[in-house]
Amino acid sequence: MSGLVTGLLFISSRNSMEIRKIDPNVVSELSLESVLSELNVTPYNHSLNSFDEEKAKMGQDLILKGRTIRNGKKSKLISSFFVCTDCHNLGREFDNLSSQKASERLEFSKNNYIPFLPGSTFYGIYNRTSFYNDDYIKKYGDLVTNARDTLENSVQLCAKYCSSGRYLADWELEAIMHYYKKNELKIKDLNLDEQTLESIVNLKRINDDEKTDLLAILNRSHVNGYNAKFLSTMDVNKRKYGKGGNVENGKLIYNKSCLHCHANKRVTYLNLGNDKLSGKMFVKNLEGYRDKSLYQIIRYGTYAKFGRKQYMPMYTEQKMSDDQLNDLVAYIKQLAEK
Ligand code: HEC
Ligand code: HEC
Repeated sequence: MSGLVTGLLFISSRNSMEIRKIDPNVVSELSLESVLSELNVTPYNHSLNSFDEEKAKMGQDLILKGRTIRNGKKSKLISSFFVCTDCHNLGREFDNLSSQKASERLEFSKNNYIPFLPGSTFYGIYNRTSFYNDDYIKKYGDLVTNARDTLENSVQLCAKYCSSGRYLADWELEAIMHYYKKNELKIKDLNLDEQTLESIVNLKRINDDEKTDLLAILNRSHVNGYNAKFLSTMDVNKRKYGKGGNVENGKLIYNKSCLHCHANKRVTYLNLGNDKLSGKMFVKNLEGYRDKSLYQIIRYGTYAKFGRKQYMPMYTEQKMSDDQLNDLVAYIKQLAEK
């Protein structure tokens, strides 16, 4: 790499007489939001004008532990059943931030030792403009209408319904928004090429066409809203029952996804492990359309009931593909024969 990235001298494309020294760190540390704002993009609905580190820290507590310390006192738990990180990662989930492919997500999770969860990551969520997209309307109905274009409302929906908890107080919501702002996308996160970076350096000098191009590139550089396709229980004639499945991938999915909750008595009574008994339980239930069949449970999850608020979230196609489901079946079959 040359020029900008290494911090050498280069000649501005606008004015060849002008030689400027570029500090690569200045551009790479810029927030995506600040660059979009220079390009006159309408601010996010949830845009924060100022950032408060203390609030972000409280937001992090709320996300990881469901409560924080405020005015010297422990705050009330958001949910007695879940914390946000049961279902959402906090860090990056893709090498390529514009990808939504389940296979690339699993590959990244393997290489970076992170869980593989039914919810989208909070990383970069500040830079998204739509939430609970596509088929989520089928699950949450009208609740989704107000959440689709509003990050705050999405947080509220999830705190109350996905977490089987309650609506957040204003200060809690604000704290989480500051946490999101803290983890917003920066230019360095976007894998932009040299020429694009130069356009950003020269932002005040480039012409309107160049601005339009830059904006298109920035919009393509990351996901603005995660797609969500619900699949139904696979028809029995379409199932491969693990045939041709990748056992290694299946094991990854089992460990990084299912056991994230099922090896954790806080979340559910159903304790599972990498043992023959767990494998046999799944094999026994695999056929047909039983509740415990992998083909059923993964696509529908379970529902919160009165007196038993813990439920299992469903996996959309984006969060687990049919091929991955087949890989998982291949693995549990091997487990059962151990
Ligand atoms: C039991 C699982 C579960 C828990 C716990 C949970 N969520 Fe979610 N959340 C989901 C699922 C599933 C979705 C929809 C899929 C997605 O994230 O794209 C979702 C979506 C969201 C979205 C919209 C994401 C988007 O890009 O569409 C936000 C914001 C959110 N959750 C915030 C939270 C917060 C904050 C907490 C903790 C207070 C929390 N969630 C706890 C499962 C959960
Ligand atoms: C976010 C946490 C979470 C994840 C991830 C998760 N589960 Fe669950 N699962 C639950 C909860 C909660 C229940 C409800 C049981 C209860 O009441 O404790 C449940 C129930 C189940 C049941 C029992 C259904 C019934 O009708 O009795 C099966 C089987 C199951 N999960 C399998 C899986 C498999 C396979 C995976 C991985 C693909 C998985 N779970 C991932 C939380 C989770």
